[in-house]
Amino acid sequence: MTKALFINGSPRKNGNTALLLKRAMDGAIEIGAEAELVNLYDRCFNYKGCMSCFACKVKGGRKGVCSFKDDLQPILEKAVNADVLVCGTPVYCGYPSANLRAFMERLIFPAVNYSDFMHPVVNKPKYSATIITMNCPDEEEYHRNSYDVLMDVNGRSLGMFGPTELFYSFDTYQFNDYSRYDADQLPAEHKKLMRETQFPKDLERAYELGKQLVEKSRDL
Ligand SMILES: Cc1cc2nc3c(=O)[nH]c(=O)nc-3n(C[C@H](O)[C@H](O)[C@H](O)COP(=O)(O)O)c2cc1C
Repeated sequence: MTKALFINGSPRKNGNTALLLKRAMDGAIEIGAEAELVNLYDRCFNYKGCMSCFACKVKGGRKGVCSFKDDLQPILEKAVNADVLVCGTPVYCGYPSANLRAFMERLIFPAVNYSDFMHPVVNKPKYSATIITMNCPDEEEYHRNSYDVLMDVNGRSLGMFGPTELFYSFDTYQFNDYSRYDADQLPAEHKKLMRETQFPKDLERAYELGKQLVEKSRDL
């Protein structure tokens, strides 16, 4: 059975990123995949980024997966053996969230082959995607803010495991009640409108993304 893993890099378990990941998961399940969602910011989930132990580079050692023992290690095992991997992150001060970056370091570095840079260590080729959510209103502003460099490069690094794509959700709804916050640059009425008109379309795209990634992974 196709295995699909969904990684939530937002601290909010029911925020925009999580909702899109869950919808992509629905799509994957609909088409017959076995799917799992991991919340990287779970309070009882302790891990750090790469500890530079070099276990993944030791001669004769286990390659391709981080073996540093902590709560993330079993998830990394699942990630390298998955057929489909979908990471989700909000834009945080122009970058992917810190916990997603820590996850990425632990996933990517073991795949970097110091003996042959052109041939990464890939346990299982996979289709992948990165779901990016943000206040940023559109693609034009996305480029103006250089998010295409900071966010897209992060997402594209999954390309070492196989075909990968980027999924954007703009102008997301950040607060349950905008009247409680100092946020004049984010007009409540406009945000509400986007939540009601744009976000449902994004959810539908996420559903299709989940389906398509599973479908395509079967041809790998
Ligand atoms: C710490 C922090 C930094 C943020 N920085 C940005 C930013 O640089 N650009 C942007 O467009 N949105 C930014 N946002 C807004 C979030 O990216 C946006 O609300 C996102 O959809 C939240 O995802 P979530 O609902 O899954 O938590 C920031 C939010 C937080 C909490």
